[in-house]
Amino acid sequence: MRIKLPRYTTAGDDLGSRQPLLFIHGFPLSRALWEQQVNDLSDSARALAFDLRGFGQAEAVPGPATLDDYSDDCLAFLDAVRAEQPAVLCGLSMGGYIALAFYRRHPARVAGLILAASRAGADSPEGRAGRDRLAQTARAHGAAAVAEAMLPRLFAPATYTTNPALIESTRAMLAGASVDGIVSALAALRDRPDATPALAGIAVPTLVIHGAEDQLIPPAEAEKTAAGIPGAALRIMPGAGHLPNLEQPAIFNAAVRDFMLSF
Ligand code: MLT
Repeated sequence: MRIKLPRYTTAGDDLGSRQPLLFIHGFPLSRALWEQQVNDLSDSARALAFDLRGFGQAEAVPGPATLDDYSDDCLAFLDAVRAEQPAVLCGLSMGGYIALAFYRRHPARVAGLILAASRAGADSPEGRAGRDRLAQTARAHGAAAVAEAMLPRLFAPATYTTNPALIESTRAMLAGASVDGIVSALAALRDRPDATPALAGIAVPTLVIHGAEDQLIPPAEAEKTAAGIPGAALRIMPGAGHLPNLEQPAIFNAAVRDFMLSF
């Protein structure tokens, strides 16, 4: 379905009833990342997903973005589909950064958090410089070049040989991003604040879930995040890399379904 948000028009999915569960995709992906979760988990929740500005089927908003912008877009989407009760936010990687920003800005609208393949800390100086280099690549050579730069580290090493179809569908998802969307998001990633000090104040049930073979964000980051959030559960998934919901959907979905039982 097409949805008009205050700053741009996007596309979203809304399946099932009961507790709203909003899936927030990572960089530079789209809501297609969550197709299997939205379909499988709509028996346990009202499964919601939408394309962040400049990704998938969403219009881009030119200029640099911030995590606060994306989190406000998430709130606008929830309002647009009338999911007014507090939602569980499930964010992967950049989606997890956005979920933490959302909790800081709109805590009354959050019932729980699922932080997948994510981390709380800010970028290092080298990491920030890498964002600028990737933005130059995007401007000079387009989204396909960004896809080629990122693909070799997105999955667990074995996934490249066991599931070539997944590599191809992910390549298409990455290459489908707009250059404006990529460049805006890289500014948000580069300049994001350190969310670590706020972890101790998180007062909703939280699940931290991470691939044991994540080559982009080491599992130690998930351990730190879970240790910082009172009562958080930690699930490390063997054989999964940075996209555990795509690499091991049955295990990922079972963990989310179990978590949703508490709502
Ligand atoms: C993502 O998957 O959203 C990005 O890898 C996050 C990041 O680069 O920090």
